[in-house]
Amino acid sequence: MNTAGEFSPDWLALREPADAAARAAELLTPLRAVLPTPMVVRDLGCGTGSMARWLAGRLPGPQRWILHDRDPELLRRASRATFRDARGVPVAVQAQQADVTSLRGADLTDTSLVTASALLDLLTRAEIDGLAAACVAAGCPALLTLSVVGEVELHPADPLDAVLGSAFNAHQRRAVQGRRLLGPDAVDATTEAFERRGATVRTRPSPWRLGASDAALIAAWLDGWVGAACEQRPELAVEARRYLRHRRAECAAGGLRVVVRHRDLLALPSPRPVG
Ligand SMILES: C[S@@+](CC[C@H](N)C(=O)[O-])C[C@H]1O[C@@H](n2cnc3c(N)ncnc32)[C@H](O)[C@@H]1O
Repeated sequence: MNTAGEFSPDWLALREPADAAARAAELLTPLRAVLPTPMVVRDLGCGTGSMARWLAGRLPGPQRWILHDRDPELLRRASRATFRDARGVPVAVQAQQADVTSLRGADLTDTSLVTASALLDLLTRAEIDGLAAACVAAGCPALLTLSVVGEVELHPADPLDAVLGSAFNAHQRRAVQGRRLLGPDAVDATTEAFERRGATVRTRPSPWRLGASDAALIAAWLDGWVGAACEQRPELAVEARRYLRHRRAECAAGGLRVVVRHRDLLALPSPRPVG
């Protein structure tokens, strides 16, 4: 993410296979049980469409997807992509360029499922509360995947790992134009927001487990991780440069393994009383 809060298509493409391997597919069993057919799925913060590429073929029956993002270039790429359902049939796709934090219950009355991937940690507590309120008001399930939880492991370990990790987490919780981002606190805040409204929430771990075959992703992730830590604590810059040189060399030699922990969340609102 750059300082304007934008994500590059190259970064999203690089992380997509790791995201697909990490998402907690076991949450789909209780989800499938409550979905109608045909269904309408809204993917919030869709980027180039990674979530639809992963999920459309795992859902039962015909689907229409509404892709939301505030970034017009990412949305353009997503809306030109083809997503196939379990029968291999392309799903209908519609794009909406908008800020997803403005969605309300009335906007979701046509919606069978709200999804998001790698979005929650970019939101504030009030924005997540608004999203949960909208889903519950519309009786709409939400599958919200790949939120960071602030835990990273590097093997072999280095004494600077913990210092950088804690500076990175502080950066994720920073205030941006008056908005205090939740970062690693997003899953707990979302769980609380849905449960307070009577929804049933399940969460499951969805870690990236990266090794020698993920060198390009590890290298890009390391640059972003260390860069954010130094933006938060500029006094780390000299030590961090040494650290990064050493880590890049380990990575290039296939000798670095990284675990980045995330959590996926499924929220199922209580059925609304009939009549
Ligand atoms: C980390 S990227 C994830 C993209 C995609 N879901 C994926 O998994 O590849 C976060 C995405 O959310 C979008 N985004 C962030 N905040 C948003 C908001 N308030 N409204 C709409 N889109 C938002 C960004 O433009 C970006 O495309």
